[in-house]
Amino acid sequence: MEERAVLVTGSCGFIGSHFVRHLLRERPWRVVSLDKLTYAGDLARLSDVSQDPRHRFVQGDVGDPELVGELLRAEGPWAIVNFAAESHVDRSILDPAPFLQTNIQGAYTLLEAARRHGVERFLQVSTDEVYGDVEGLPPRGENDPLRPSSPYAASKASADLLCIAYWRTYRLPVLIARSSNNYGPYQHPEKLIPLAIRNLLRGDSVPVYGDGRQVRDWLFVEDNCRALLEILERGQAGGIYNVATGVRTANFELLRRICEILAEELRSDLESYLSRIELVADRPGHDREYAVSIDRITEELGWKPLVDLQEGLRRTVRWFLENRGWLERAADSAYHAYYEAVYARRWGMSWPA
Ligand code: NAD
Ligand code: DAU
Repeated sequence: MEERAVLVTGSCGFIGSHFVRHLLRERPWRVVSLDKLTYAGDLARLSDVSQDPRHRFVQGDVGDPELVGELLRAEGPWAIVNFAAESHVDRSILDPAPFLQTNIQGAYTLLEAARRHGVERFLQVSTDEVYGDVEGLPPRGENDPLRPSSPYAASKASADLLCIAYWRTYRLPVLIARSSNNYGPYQHPEKLIPLAIRNLLRGDSVPVYGDGRQVRDWLFVEDNCRALLEILERGQAGGIYNVATGVRTANFELLRRICEILAEELRSDLESYLSRIELVADRPGHDREYAVSIDRITEELGWKPLVDLQEGLRRTVRWFLENRGWLERAADSAYHAYYEAVYARRWGMSWPA
């Protein structure tokens, strides 16, 4: 068996699970998966690779130095890819504490273990949110200042700074990928696209924050996974790479497209879907626009996105239609409590029964 191993943290989350599948398909390496299985983690996302002898799953916390040290000693991975995080902005507004713990302390624990064990590559999966709101500014380059708005974004920016410090101080070969909004199969229904699909399918309203004109750059998750593998293998040590499509879409426009695709797929009435888009009070500190330059990754690594928004949305809607059982399981009782906290108590909406 191939001896080379990669440690992937947060492997049972949305993007991490797609990346594990991508790695096992594209490379002969062993993959060691580490995930705490928080509300956001689900082993079912990896059910198709659970029997693969090159894949080993370990349940645990990236902030546990003993566990992480023992894993590095036992498995000797040449690389670490760190997806593990609390990832949802609204939850970080409700309670920043787990964000600071996992996203900062967890990253530090991994970096320190990587340094001690001579890991050859450390890829930190970061976000375009670290640049903050770019409304009225040109797309952000990798050297632009960090101006995070939410506790989530601030925790991710802090981890980026730690990674940079470990490169400058210890020459740990760190790489940072700053991706835009991912979407696709298996995304948790707390995030806008699966939330909208689920609510529309159930006959509920779709809550749109503020005026719905906020702009995001939507990246199909498989395109992101291809970019991350390129960065891991061929990126310059100490380098930061933005990953996005360069196409930006307002939330209203995105939701209109989802309604159109659903109406086509189910041969149902478009107007009744559109009428359920409902403006609600804005997310506090809500960034109006994200926009990043992808010149570096395209010029240095030759990466470009392959799935445009229309195709990606159609694939996503179809997947959720075929996997409604998974979608409803993800929206469990804890989800309802969360939904109520965000949308009902604070933002004055009732939650789906
Ligand atoms: P997710 O919330 O779906 O998954 C996060 C995973 O991390 C879960 O499986 C969870 O169980 C695990 N986890 C949480 N705390 C942990 C801990 N202390 N120890 C071990 N595992 C833990 O998140 P996602 O959307 O897949 O995002 C993955 C990464 O990509 C995150 O670092 C996020 O900041 C970053 N990112 C996400 C997006 C996006 O649009 N989703 C865009 C850019 C960057
Ligand atoms: O930009 C990258 C980031 O994208 C990642 O770092 C985060 O982990 C990921 O969660 C995502 O953050 P956003 O806050 O942009 O994603 P979200 O799906 O929560 O929201 C997308 C947009 O839709 C945003 O402008 C807020 C808005 N929104 C969201 C929800 C959940 C609504 O209008 N209504 C909603 O109910």
